[in-house]
Amino acid sequence: MPPYALTPRNIQIRDNFDAIAPKYDLTNRVISFGIDLHWRSVAIRQLADMRPGGVVLDLACGTCDMALEVLRQKRAVRVVGADLSRAMLGLARKKLSGRSRGADARITLVNAPAEALPFRDGAFDAVTIAFGIRNVPDFKAGLKEMLRILNKGGRACILEFSTPPSKLWWKVYNYYFFSILPRIGGLITGREAAYRYLTDSVARFPDAREFKAAMVETGFASVSYQLMNGGIVSVHTGIRP
Ligand SMILES: C[S@@+](CC[C@H](N)C(=O)[O-])C[C@H]1O[C@@H](n2cnc3c(N)ncnc32)[C@H](O)[C@@H]1O
Repeated sequence: MPPYALTPRNIQIRDNFDAIAPKYDLTNRVISFGIDLHWRSVAIRQLADMRPGGVVLDLACGTCDMALEVLRQKRAVRVVGADLSRAMLGLARKKLSGRSRGADARITLVNAPAEALPFRDGAFDAVTIAFGIRNVPDFKAGLKEMLRILNKGGRACILEFSTPPSKLWWKVYNYYFFSILPRIGGLITGREAAYRYLTDSVARFPDAREFKAAMVETGFASVSYQLMNGGIVSVHTGIRP
């Protein structure tokens, strides 16, 4: 695969995450009231039928909360975590060294863009991405790469913020999400603009039905999704045919 040149948008997004990385985990727990851990757990349960001893790619792995959840639920797997931000990967490395279950030996970290993954076709039994695909400006290119690196029958599991279908719930949630959340993020990290980016990127991202259609168009089979907390978050899965 030819080397991928990061776009100005990629660089802006990466720099955002570099800046908030030291307080990323703390801010996540606070702004989601800790529910983000439950969301990742539900998402990884979708990999229930993966063969023992398989290899999972956790894309946009950040500080490895998703990769660690894979190890927690699936004892006999190895995980590769890939991310664009070296600062996030640095924190992931520190976190893994303090964890049990041989986490630092079972999770390998790679600095790579979702748009051009440095892995051969069919290298993985599953691919996960939590709150990452929305940060890939050309998210369809990201989906294509996820499909390419999966082996036949391998499953993609995509956890992302979504748009609640109920207008009333959307209004209530909107107030928290757009007016309060960026301020809390700003107070903790000193980077309110980075959290305004988060809310704007969610507003721009396709809703669950549209995202399902994009997965089908990419070539995933058996695509389905589950909404959580009234549709604040969705988990989509699909299989490489
Ligand atoms: C909201 S964080 C999610 C981190 C982690 N998956 C989690 O569940 O907490 C988004 C991550 O996507 C990474 N990222 C952004 N654009 C990317 C890209 N084009 N390729 C790979 N990673 C990217 C960021 O560096 C950041 O670590």
